[in-house]
Amino acid sequence: MGYNIVYFSRTGVSKRVAEKVANGLDTKAIEVTDNKSWQGILGFIKGGFYATIGKEVSIKINGEIDRSEEYIVLSPLWAGGPAPAIRTFLKGVPSNQVKLVITCDGSNVEKAINKYENKHGKFKENYGIVKHEKNEERVIEEIINSSK
Ligand SMILES: Cc1cc2nc3c(=O)[nH]c(=O)nc-3n(C[C@H](O)[C@H](O)[C@H](O)COP(=O)(O)O)c2cc1C
Repeated sequence: MGYNIVYFSRTGVSKRVAEKVANGLDTKAIEVTDNKSWQGILGFIKGGFYATIGKEVSIKINGEIDRSEEYIVLSPLWAGGPAPAIRTFLKGVPSNQVKLVITCDGSNVEKAINKYENKHGKFKENYGIVKHEKNEERVIEEIINSSK
């Protein structure tokens, strides 16, 4: 089975992971963007605000999604949940067809994903890439191996 590999990234971490996973699965990663600017310190603060109150954003999917295939979705953790653009994207796909990959600096990803799943349904698989744990390469390998 092939996967649509879809990501949102503000500073390039989730993009890098998406591209490595896509490379390992011989496909291309598709970027989801929104209509906001998240740059700089003001963008960071606005991002925290949007994430905390669950404010909606409209998204643009910058590539071709194959609806007959499942999804690997990558997002940074923003204030304990996926970034707003990914929240919007996830509303349009069944959770049980999604492997969710969260990148973050040091939070407990398991806890964050469980909280999201309790509201929106269980994901097919989920993964956390945590900067402080230096687990990026190991988790990428795990995702690729489970998706071949
Ligand atoms: C608005 C905002 C909120 C964030 N909240 C968290 C958080 O709750 N826990 C955490 O560990 N990292 C948090 N981060 C850091 C990012 O999740 C982390 O640096 C991520 O890997 C960045 O991915 P990106 O480069 O793809 O944007 C936050 C970053 C932003 C911009």
